[in-house]
Amino acid sequence: MCGITVRVGDGSAVPDLLSGLENLEYRGYDSAGIALQNGTGIDVVKSEGKIDRLHEALDGKELHGAVGIGHTRWSTHGPPTDENAHPHTDCTGKVAVVHNGIIENYRKLREELAADGHVFTSETDTEVIPHLIESHLATGADFGSAFREAVDRLEGSYAVAAIAAGTDAVYATRNGSPLVLGQDTDRYFLASDVPAFLEQTDEVVYLQDGDVVRVTETGYRVTDTAGTVVDREVETVDWNAEDVGKAGYEHFMRKEIHEQPTALRQTIRGRIDSFGGDVDLEGFPPGTFTGIDRVHLVAMGTSMHAAMYAAALLTENGVDAEAYLSGEYAVSPPPADSNTLVIAVTQSGETADTLGAIRGIQGTNVRTLALTNVVGSSITRECDDSLYIRAGPEIGVAATKSFSSQVVTLAMLTQRLVKDITGTSVENAGSLLEAVSQIPGDVQQILDNSTAAAIAEKYLDSDAFFFLGRNTCYAVALEGALKFKEITYEHAEGFAASELKHGPLALVTENTPVFVLFTGEDDHKIISNAKEVQARGAPVIAVASDTSSEAIAQADDVLSIPRTHPKMSGVLGNVQLQLVAYHAAKELGREIDKPRNLAKSVTVE
Ligand code: F6R
Repeated sequence: MCGITVRVGDGSAVPDLLSGLENLEYRGYDSAGIALQNGTGIDVVKSEGKIDRLHEALDGKELHGAVGIGHTRWSTHGPPTDENAHPHTDCTGKVAVVHNGIIENYRKLREELAADGHVFTSETDTEVIPHLIESHLATGADFGSAFREAVDRLEGSYAVAAIAAGTDAVYATRNGSPLVLGQDTDRYFLASDVPAFLEQTDEVVYLQDGDVVRVTETGYRVTDTAGTVVDREVETVDWNAEDVGKAGYEHFMRKEIHEQPTALRQTIRGRIDSFGGDVDLEGFPPGTFTGIDRVHLVAMGTSMHAAMYAAALLTENGVDAEAYLSGEYAVSPPPADSNTLVIAVTQSGETADTLGAIRGIQGTNVRTLALTNVVGSSITRECDDSLYIRAGPEIGVAATKSFSSQVVTLAMLTQRLVKDITGTSVENAGSLLEAVSQIPGDVQQILDNSTAAAIAEKYLDSDAFFFLGRNTCYAVALEGALKFKEITYEHAEGFAASELKHGPLALVTENTPVFVLFTGEDDHKIISNAKEVQARGAPVIAVASDTSSEAIAQADDVLSIPRTHPKMSGVLGNVQLQLVAYHAAKELGREIDKPRNLAKSVTVE
């Protein structure tokens, strides 16, 4: 959580810092601020609220400085107030710091510093850092040594950047929180994520835990914890600046829903031989997983639903597979050995719970695989191998295109796993892979013809919204409910259809619409569930293709999807549910891209 930006170069740093913060606002939006090295001292401007409020706070102020740091916050310690907004300074106002993560030993440090006479002005854990730097500077240390010594005292996860009066260098480091350097011809950037500076440069250096970087106008130097210079490769990212803009859409979420056909084409490109009924996954040739007899998928939120979808596919094809919430896996890992493959499913690659699950099994001989969207993200360094979903940058807090690309990547990976583990193919592999290759066009058809806006409007005043599915579509029911609740703030719940009579049915009334996902396979079972809720007066909205004619005849309303392989229908049904959630939230006037209390990347446990 929280977004850090740093800019070092010629001319004023303010525009680059502000555009960086705007591009990172999805990481947190409780408060924002910047600090500039003005030649003799440090200027700090910060404000509670979104970046617009920071713009207002900056209005009329003449700020100068080519070196600056910025921050957009998602609160962990202390409520969102001006005082708790970053950057934080020391007692003298000569050191300013931005931080993403959690300093676990901050109470002890704060007591120690306060006993030495340091005065704190915020409730944050971050504020101990400038005071620690200040106390080392007071002993005569130069800024670089003072920064290192301060960081040595920190326990927890952090990415930190600091500036000090009288020096044009920025020092920064990371431990468990992301930090990436961007280099342009005349400027350098540091940020929590590449979109912060993608409009300026696509040349990046992914910093690693323990790296300390010193950046000045003339260059940068990376050293390890011992102070030895280390070489970090400069990479070119293949995302472009248009990818991170709204491209005329009112919201990132809408843009990202509509980007799904393109994203899915990228996901699939070069990976399917549907005639041969096989996949060609780079780095994962046939036999890669020979010897594996058990698959654990670990993930959170939407990624967990993609993991559950994949676990259902694998199980059905004879593989011992289970999806676990990473936060639970980290505290009570199930039995796993050298024949176990743990797949970490995470869009951002930075989710603390998922990193924690993988770190918990490090040092064992369990094999790990990262399935992520972000090249160079922390999870790719923690796992033995990585497979990318290639969905492109996702900015809206609500995950949309990443879910589709995760499921499709996992469906392709399933093919490899099933063959390597069981020696047989996924049932009807050819037709499944054919369906996967048709998915981009099918999603486009939905986007062109969806009646989701009308359905959302029709049921807007309901008391609650329920979602039912079975097998792979159980995961989609959960995802439909998650998307709906997170952006509308309405009560929404997903259930396995088989669970209905074991409790949830008590919630059903004529004012609780029920979205039912049909796959065209074993529809009769879920049709009886639809009848049960209708008998209690609830309207049923069938999410179905025309193969489910009986379901359609029974339903009060229909969200139509193209015919596809039953195992892929969940991906299509989910697009309709994304649209319903989006239109309902829009009608309700919600902050769709930045729902209350949430942030895109949950980098604290
Ligand atoms: C929901 C959403 C979150 C994320 C979850 C995991 O729309 O975006 O539930 O899915 O925080 O994030 P990643 O996939 O980055 O690990």
